[in-house]
Amino acid sequence: MSDMTGNGGHGKKNNRFSIAVLAGDGIGPEVIAVARRVVEAASGSEGASFEWTEYPFGAAHYLRTKEVLPDSAIAEIGGHSAMMLGAMGAPSVKPGILERGILLTLRFVFDQYINLRPAMSLPNVPTPVPLNGGKIDSVVIRENTEDLYMGLGDISSDGTLNAPMNLSRGGYKLKGNLSLSITPGMSYAAQVALNTSHGVSRIARYACETAIKRGENKVTIVTKSNAAPALYGFFEDIAKGVIEERQLKWEVVNVDALCYHLVRRPDAYGVLLCPNLFGDIVSDLQAGLAGGMGTAAGGNIGDGVSMFEPVHGSAPDIAGTGKANPVAAILSGALMLRHLGLDSSAARVEKAVSSYLMSASGSDLPFEFGGSRTCAQVGDGVLKKI
Ligand code: NAD
Ligand code: IPM
Ligand code: MN
Repeated sequence: MSDMTGNGGHGKKNNRFSIAVLAGDGIGPEVIAVARRVVEAASGSEGASFEWTEYPFGAAHYLRTKEVLPDSAIAEIGGHSAMMLGAMGAPSVKPGILERGILLTLRFVFDQYINLRPAMSLPNVPTPVPLNGGKIDSVVIRENTEDLYMGLGDISSDGTLNAPMNLSRGGYKLKGNLSLSITPGMSYAAQVALNTSHGVSRIARYACETAIKRGENKVTIVTKSNAAPALYGFFEDIAKGVIEERQLKWEVVNVDALCYHLVRRPDAYGVLLCPNLFGDIVSDLQAGLAGGMGTAAGGNIGDGVSMFEPVHGSAPDIAGTGKANPVAAILSGALMLRHLGLDSSAARVEKAVSSYLMSASGSDLPFEFGGSRTCAQVGDGVLKKI
């Protein structure tokens, strides 16, 4: 795989960037179209230019061709500076085929071990829980390659199960077999979760760097070692060691209690270091507390080519209605610009979103925030502020 994951020197030549675009399903293409326009407009002042290569993968392509994501496309995508992804998954395709087959495959193949998911209060955006003057400014640092996401497991119909446990991740290869039988015979499912010292220490290091950059001295470790002491006790211990080495403080909060605390005090947390599954769940909760799924930006970051995508999915319930909020995709574009070294362009995007929201009243807001502006109209509003 190493030839696939090499990213051609980030594809950057003379401030020219090539971006692989996988807009995907549902509202994915709607919000990505807006994010692209904003990224282009904001980066002009830094003399950057973008070349976009569109890939058709997603539900429609799969239903037409039975192709999910061919190796040849993976190799080509690896030659780009970065990727932007909308969302994968649609009611017309069995869950997992596109989500695992495209989204998770890309995270794993390119070893994008960091899932960076900031959550913040945005001006004029109503929140479901009163903030009493406080502000949400937290960031989920989600391990992005391990835990229950390894894809190891199977279903037994008769009581016996033999599931191969072979895979490779950046940094290691796993080999083996899970062999089980149950008495009395019945059907069951087993799915193996793994956290490795390699995987946990590198994400814990990134959480520490994030805390330091934010001027904070604490990392909150989000686990559930009371119920799964091997899997999450291990995660905790490795993370604590890394955090102490960096002379930072840690606190451990069980994920159930964290959800409770977050709902009561959404502004009380900074860096939340999470195993893969809890990071997935907590980042949706954070998005909801900040005002909606359409607020939440994300980046899948590794040492090779990285991928930027909103936290939300394809939202089939509002696809095609114009009600999709593009703010999350736009802010994911800002994360991409910063990753590419275009810091002032990233800041321009973030400022433009804030000043658009600040000057928007009532009906000028996106649908999700109680207004009546469509996805494209919100894009126009943000572009005017650039
Ligand atoms: P979802 O995030 O698509 O939607 C949850 C709710 O939030 C829906 O009510 C939706 O209308 C709303 N919402 C989401 N994004 C919004 C936006 N930008 N503006 C306004 N409202 C928004 O989650 P789901 O319904 O569980 O998943 C739908 C499909 O997307 C499934 O196939 C799922 O597997 C897939 N999915 C893909 C990704 C991804 O590719 N990154 C992420 C999550 C879910
Ligand atoms: C996300 C999504 C994915 C995940 C799904 C679609 C596999 O929910 O990016 O948060 O669980 O990581
Ligand atoms: Mn999710």
